[in-house]
Amino acid sequence: MFTTPFLDLPPLASAEGSVRLPGSKSISNRVLLLAGLSAGTTVVHDLLDSDDTRVMLAALRDLGCGVDADGSAWRITGLGGRLATREASLFLGNAGTAMRPLTAALAVLAATQNGRFELRGVPRMHERPIGDLVDALRQLGCNITSLGQEGFPPLRLAAADTRLNTAQPIRVRGDVSSQFLTALLLALPLVSAEHAVTVEVDGELISKPYVDITLNLLARFGIQVQRDGWQRFVIPQASAYRSPGSIHVEGDASSASYFVALGAIAAFDGRALRIEGVGDDSIQGDLRFIDAARAMGADVRSGPGWLEVRRGAWPLKAITLDCNHIPDAAMTLAVMALYATGTTRLDNIASWRVKETDRIAAMATELRKLGATVVEGPDFIEVSPPATWRAAAIHTYDDHRVAMCFSLAAFNPLTTSADAAPAARGVPVRILDPRCVAKTFPDYFETLFGVAQPGPAGVPVITIDGPTASGKGTLASAVAQALGYHFLDSGALYRATALSAREAGIADTDEPGLAKVAAGLQLAFHDQRIWLAGRDVSDDLRQEHIGAMASKVSAWPAVRQALYELQLSHRRLPGLVADGRDMGTVIFPGADLKVFVVASAAVRAERRHKQLISKGISTSIDDLRADLEARDARDQNRAVSPLKPAEGAKVLDNSALTIDECVKAVLDWWASSQTFG
Ligand code: DC
Repeated sequence: MFTTPFLDLPPLASAEGSVRLPGSKSISNRVLLLAGLSAGTTVVHDLLDSDDTRVMLAALRDLGCGVDADGSAWRITGLGGRLATREASLFLGNAGTAMRPLTAALAVLAATQNGRFELRGVPRMHERPIGDLVDALRQLGCNITSLGQEGFPPLRLAAADTRLNTAQPIRVRGDVSSQFLTALLLALPLVSAEHAVTVEVDGELISKPYVDITLNLLARFGIQVQRDGWQRFVIPQASAYRSPGSIHVEGDASSASYFVALGAIAAFDGRALRIEGVGDDSIQGDLRFIDAARAMGADVRSGPGWLEVRRGAWPLKAITLDCNHIPDAAMTLAVMALYATGTTRLDNIASWRVKETDRIAAMATELRKLGATVVEGPDFIEVSPPATWRAAAIHTYDDHRVAMCFSLAAFNPLTTSADAAPAARGVPVRILDPRCVAKTFPDYFETLFGVAQPGPAGVPVITIDGPTASGKGTLASAVAQALGYHFLDSGALYRATALSAREAGIADTDEPGLAKVAAGLQLAFHDQRIWLAGRDVSDDLRQEHIGAMASKVSAWPAVRQALYELQLSHRRLPGLVADGRDMGTVIFPGADLKVFVVASAAVRAERRHKQLISKGISTSIDDLRADLEARDARDQNRAVSPLKPAEGAKVLDNSALTIDECVKAVLDWWASSQTFG
């Protein structure tokens, strides 16, 4: 997951391959609640692992349910309708799918079993309406207090003064959020012992497909709600939650929308994008997004549990669509509109205004930053594509869907012809606070980068070269971390070659033998450690005698040649920071920013001395300095790839700078070479 303040997407040019979707948020949280209300244990497979499910799992645990990870599955042992804890204060983040149903379930449990619960969330959650649900529950006789503003969380749910009145139909508004009806349907079986319980919807019910998911899952838990159109729902008398024993959560259809759009935009010339996890057997209404995507030009094939998408028409075709049935996925259409000829109009989306953020306002503001023309109304949005695309820093409003759908704007090079001038070959897109995708799809960007190919300018590269002990490794690693880029410590490759050769008894004079070792290195970088054939060699590689041998090993042209491709293969989306001796001169001569770090031999010897002392190794500064100077001489005077500043490199003398100052200097150079508005 990217936890950096921003993530820069370079211009992207095509997409192909296969992605597996995370579990559906809507299904995950409904299943968790139903399992939590049932008696016995439900094993939940493929549950979405995200912020919104994590708050639900935590809430169930706080309420006394059994919540245990079982490999990749979760074992939920439910309450069986009896409160295990009478008092709890639950924090539900910004998860509407947790706040609404838990409010309903805990309101009736508190009312009938003398409970007392407080439900709260992040500040935005306290701005998201819940009054219609509270009104419906109060008709029943539930005791609910708004602790902040009336009609909004936080809420207190307490014991009722009188018996709940389940004989009368309960009326609920359906035109603000369908989650209010869903919440009632999920909770009211708890009080169906004496009568069938009837819920009547006031006004036109929005987002009907989400209510369908609710009915479908209730049936999986043994409750057959009778439905009369979309106006009247009857929960039969003595309905009881019966765990299905085990249940599988299908992939998230709203998350699928980004990849359906991706295929429609960027899978062309024989490429295809396969999406695993949802297919034509899905119970999620957002799958209807496919019809809209097809109308815009997508070529979509499907089967059970899979979709396959290709570009159909190009440019895409503008559409006018009532999006009431696909409110979440419709945001993706607004971004597809950037690639369409004409104006796309999305109607009947008033619910966007009460989601994670005011999504109509957010989409309008951010689409305009890219150069689009946007008209917004109380319940619609109209988008016309940019005449000229502008690089933009997209504000994401702590809204996962804003972050995900705007990533698709990085394919803007596809709107210009292949022989356009370099300046017209696309603009980067900066996604601010990329971490917000954790709400439903923590690995969204990694998944995107797994199937996307960069535009003509390639994957951005920053090179940081310099002599041994100049602090370039620490600097490069910190810069990579700040930008969310990959990090290549090329010295480690030479060190690993030295270590492997030494262990295999190969002399540092045996050029062909060393090259063979280099070509066969099984090296992996993860968890900030370096692994050689599955063994953690991070500490071994830092030993002085391995560094000294690496210096000799690296002078052999055949060794450098053997490591060439391996180094290039580290250039992956979204970007790379590479440190070494010849990153800017030989390996990545076209790098976007080249830095050459220098520091006096005296300063470097002192730094290395401190480092070694801290590891309990005693050496003399004079010996270290002599050794550094010998290595400098070897690195600088060798015939191939000698150490020297690359053409156009920025020289950073860090003799008197702290690490933080160095990082800032490089990030400032990087920022000034970027074009974000
Ligand atoms: O940066 P370092 O100390 O980990 O590098 C170990 C040795 O590898 C060093 O003596 C020079 C060599 N090297 C190189 O020749 N080219 C690189 N790109 C990186 C390191």
